[in-house]
Amino acid sequence: MKVTINGAMTVDGKIATTSGDSKISSKEDLLRVHKLRASVDAIVVGISTILADDPRLTVRLVKGKNPARVIVDSKGRIPIDSQIMRTASKIRTIVAVTDQTPEEKIYKLEEAGAQVLVMSEGKKGQSAAVSHGVNLKNLFRRLEKMGLRRILVEGGGELNWSLLRLGLVDDLTVTISPKIAGGRLATTLVEGDGFDKISQGIRLVLWRLEQKNTDELVLHYKLS
Ligand SMILES: NC(=O)c1ccc[n+]([C@@H]2O[C@H](COP(=O)([O-])OP(=O)(O)OC[C@H]3O[C@@H](n4cnc5c(N)ncnc54)[C@H](OP(=O)(O)O)[C@@H]3O)[C@@H](O)[C@H]2O)c1
Repeated sequence: MKVTINGAMTVDGKIATTSGDSKISSKEDLLRVHKLRASVDAIVVGISTILADDPRLTVRLVKGKNPARVIVDSKGRIPIDSQIMRTASKIRTIVAVTDQTPEEKIYKLEEAGAQVLVMSEGKKGQSAAVSHGVNLKNLFRRLEKMGLRRILVEGGGELNWSLLRLGLVDDLTVTISPKIAGGRLATTLVEGDGFDKISQGIRLVLWRLEQKNTDELVLHYKLS
């Protein structure tokens, strides 16, 4: 399995403004993201990203096959009228939930064409987002068994943290837009509890650096 996180942030590390605007990349960069989408088996995102942006997570700007969409959503909060659910009968859609999701919501999601995987967590000593959330290790194992081996994670910050913390990520690509958004409550590329010391931080190795437009940078890292 190969897992890549892709995100776009401002120079001050924000992936959305305080009011939730996340349109950070240039058109050229979006084209790169759509090419990347067309090359993977599945896109994985956290439920807060769905609730904030109502994305389609499809390949539109280039020719190519739509990957499956996987939503990490413990309580089954994804709206039935969201763009993802409205297209779930045509594009493979998986909602990974826990036992906190009511049975009737599971039924509604399945009726709309999604596959629901119940992946409950519960280990002690893990961060709140992890211990009360979807068991990501089991989810990724299950996705692999389902033939979904090339995985693109498109955020947000909480999901990125959980996956990085669990050592489930192979590559991280980040676009840095030449903007400052500010805002102490604005979401950053990686949220979660964080580490106490920089020395504990996850070490990345830069293997490629692209300069798009005039001032936009795309950094490609491998996890060491
Ligand atoms: N610029 C970019 O590249 C980019 C990309 C994506 C998103 N964004 C922005 O990022 C913001 C959303 O990011 P976010 O950090 O708030 O949320 P997120 O990562 O999209 O979703 C986090 C939520 O997923 C659920 N979840 C279930 N199991 C989990 C687990 N094991 N680990 C982590 N999360 C788990 C939790 O909600 P439940 O407890 O309800 O399950 C959790 O609160 C939005 O404003 C969006 O626009 C920007």
